[in-house]
Amino acid sequence: MTYDADAVARYFDAFGLGEYERHDASPEQRIKFEMHVRCLREFVQPGSRVLEVGAGPGRFTEILAEMDCGVTVVDLSAEQVRLNEERARELGYAQSIERWLHADFCDLPALADGRFDAVVAFGGPFSYVLDRRDAALEECVRLLAPSGVLLLSVMSKWGSTHAFLGAIQSLPADEIRAMDATGDVTPATSPSSVDGGHFFHMFTADELRRFLEDGLRVEFMAASNAVSTGWSDYLDGEESFAQALAWEDEATRAPGALDMGTHILAVARKEGVR
Ligand SMILES: C[S@@+](CC[C@H](N)C(=O)[O-])C[C@H]1O[C@@H](n2cnc3c(N)ncnc32)[C@H](O)[C@@H]1O
Repeated sequence: MTYDADAVARYFDAFGLGEYERHDASPEQRIKFEMHVRCLREFVQPGSRVLEVGAGPGRFTEILAEMDCGVTVVDLSAEQVRLNEERARELGYAQSIERWLHADFCDLPALADGRFDAVVAFGGPFSYVLDRRDAALEECVRLLAPSGVLLLSVMSKWGSTHAFLGAIQSLPADEIRAMDATGDVTPATSPSSVDGGHFFHMFTADELRRFLEDGLRVEFMAASNAVSTGWSDYLDGEESFAQALAWEDEATRAPGALDMGTHILAVARKEGVR
C-alpha cells in the first residue's frame, strides 16, 4: 500500500486535541502514557537536543521540556503543529521549543545532519508512513548525532488483534485475511475502514527489530500495554493502578510479551556512520 501523506494529514487535522486527551481516557491509556514517559526518562539525557516527530499536540513535548531538553517539533498536520505551539505557550514551556516545523519526517531538508542527541517518534509515526518507512528511518539516522538514540512506538499486530478481537472478527473474511497477511489497515486491505480515514501498518516485534537493525543497534523493546489491556474497569483505584503499572513495566520487557501490547516501544542507537 502506498503512503498517502495528505490522507494522514487530513485525519489528524480533524482529530484536533483528541490525541492530547487520549492519554487520560482510561486507566489503560494512563498506563500506556506512563510507559512512554518512563522510556523517555530512561533513555534521553536531561538537557539533550531532541527532535520529536509526529509530536501531535504535545503530551510528550511537555515531558521533554520538563527534562530541560531543547525540542524541535515536527508534524505532518498543520493543525497538530498549531495545537502543539498553543499548548506550549499556555502551559509555559515555549522557551524549550527550538522550532515548530510543519513537515513530513520522511524528508526534512531544513534540518542539518547529526544535529540531535535523540529522535522521538511516539504514537505510531513509523506505522503511518507505510512503504516510506525506510526513507523515514534513513532520515532519522541522518539527523542523529553519533551515539544518538531513536525512541519510537508503533502499532502492534498481535497486541491489536488481542485488544480488538471482537471488532476484527466482525469484519468481512477477505478483509481479515488481507490485514493478517500484510499487517496493514488501508483502503486496499480494509475497504470498510475507508470512511474512518485512519490508515497504518501494524508491526510484529520481530519485524520491528529487523527494520531497526538496518543501521541501528536495538537497546530496548517492550510491549505497551499488555498486562493491563482489557482491565480498565478494575484499575480505577490508586493501589490497583500502581500495582498494574509495576507489573506492566516488568512483564512487558520479557521477550514473550513483546507482541502482546497494542503498541511496541523500542529504543535503538546509532553506531558510527551509516
Ligand atoms: C497518534 S498521533 C501521536 C501524537 C504524539 N506523538 C503522542 O503520542 O501523543 C500521530 C502523529 O503523527 C503525525 N504524523 C503521521 N505521519 C507523519 C509524518 N510522515 N511526518 C510527521 N508527522 C506525522 C500525525 O499528524 C499525528 O500528529
